[in-house]
Amino acid sequence: MSDTKIDTTLALLKRIEADFTPAAFANSLGAEDMVLTDLISKAAPKIELFSLDTGRLPEETHKLMRKLSERYPLRIRVYFPDSRDVEEDLAAHGFNGFYDSVEARKACCHVRKVLPLKRALAGKKAWITGLRRDQAPTRTALAEQQDDVENGLVKFNPLLDWSEADVWNYIRSNNVPYNRLHDRSYPSIGCAPCTRAITEGEDIRAGRWWWERPDQKECGLHRRN
Ligand code: ADX
Ligand code: SF4
Repeated sequence: MSDTKIDTTLALLKRIEADFTPAAFANSLGAEDMVLTDLISKAAPKIELFSLDTGRLPEETHKLMRKLSERYPLRIRVYFPDSRDVEEDLAAHGFNGFYDSVEARKACCHVRKVLPLKRALAGKKAWITGLRRDQAPTRTALAEQQDDVENGLVKFNPLLDWSEADVWNYIRSNNVPYNRLHDRSYPSIGCAPCTRAITEGEDIRAGRWWWERPDQKECGLHRRN
């Protein structure tokens, strides 16, 4: 990948730090987010990091969380779902009810991701994601900077035009730690019960909510305005 792409991303992160503090980076610890972690630690350390722990994350993601704090001098704030919301969702939809319908799946994502996200974004001027345009049909029309009307702040997607190869070139050349599940055919990682390995030729998000149609596979963190 070209150094220009890295330089452009670094410049954007510096601009966010200069003009939008307090800004927060939503870090799922996926490959893209480890690239952003590395870039933020180098260029814009005032950007805060947070992660949403749904309570259903794979063990490998927790291992990486620990590695991240050993490698980088950055603090990462972790948000959990409200236990009463989880209890109500389980009472309404049953254990692992998300396999039964899109409505039940969205309800679980709402309680475990969207509501904690709102707490994480409170009082912030901007938030940052690791979304890339070529990840999914739901992501092709995104902009690098957009008004997040629903949450009332600005949203930045600095890696929008990075390819999957760009992400992995950066990880390998900078020795960035990554989730070991990526070595076991998991290109995209979310909650354990909603993520599986893909087989050769499958789309990179084929292992996420694999029982749903591709145009429905968003969890509510990233709504189209
Ligand atoms: S998801 O919406 O389908 O789960 P994906 O895993 O591709 O999204 O991640 C896209 C971006 O959403 C990540 O780069 C990150 O910015 C944000 N994100 C997703 N899951 C989390 C999480 N658990 N904690 C913090 N940010 C997250
Ligand atoms: Fe629930 Fe699955 Fe959404 Fe995680 S990805 S919050 S387990 S429905």
